[in-house]
Amino acid sequence: MTQDLWTRVDEYIARTLIGEDAALDATLRDSAAADLPAIAVSPPYGRMLHPLARSVGARRILEIGTLGGYSASWLARALPSDGRLVTLEVSDRHAAVARRNLDRAGVGARVDIRIGYAADALRAMAEAHEPPFDFVFIDADKEGYPDYLRLSLALSRPGTLIVADNVVREGKVADPSTTDEQARAVREFNALLAAEPRVCATIIQTVGMKKHDGFALALVTS
Ligand code: SAH
Ligand code: DHB
Ligand code: MG
Repeated sequence: MTQDLWTRVDEYIARTLIGEDAALDATLRDSAAADLPAIAVSPPYGRMLHPLARSVGARRILEIGTLGGYSASWLARALPSDGRLVTLEVSDRHAAVARRNLDRAGVGARVDIRIGYAADALRAMAEAHEPPFDFVFIDADKEGYPDYLRLSLALSRPGTLIVADNVVREGKVADPSTTDEQARAVREFNALLAAEPRVCATIIQTVGMKKHDGFALALVTS
């Protein structure tokens, strides 16, 4: 009952504020047809990522967890034509679906999909002293979140905006004795964020077509 209502409201928001978007609609359709899990961000959430990235004038965006390229499309569209989205994905099958979707959406030239474990790619970028990212979206395996935060900070500068998906997990994060490994890792991520003097951060819980969850928003301040 409640989930039905949350889903209907998400659909209402998408209809009212976004409407049809041929490339993004096709991305979700083809991701489902390729049997990818239905865990991309919702349309209203994608529409939040896009102006957030634009508001910091992002020219270099990092995404951890590509799936079929749905959130990547919203983010890549926020970039100027010479901007760059680096998106990390462990599954070559997911990456292949994303490649097709991003090319069809007309943003493929701006997107670099790196296949492999995200933590390895992040460490390699930090060691190579790659220029910092202006915007970071963390959305891969929850067990990796603590490492992803530490490594994202190493690849940030003051002014970088970091968004992390799935940090509420149907409320399991508020239970210190939870045995859910993902929730435990996300609790560790949230605690790291809270203790991190270089960020100004909050967590907003959400309900919608993706159930009860939430996102963290952190501005790197120093
Ligand atoms: N951001 C996407 C959804 C990502 S789902 C969107 O909103 O459209 C999470 C993705 O992270 C999956 O595709 C999964 O294969 C990938 N993933 C899981 N563990 C990973 C790891 N260790 N390194 C990189 N990617 C990983
Ligand atoms: C799940 C949801 C997500 O948004 C994600 O990035 C990974 C997993 C899930 O519900 O399992
Ligand atoms: Mg997610």
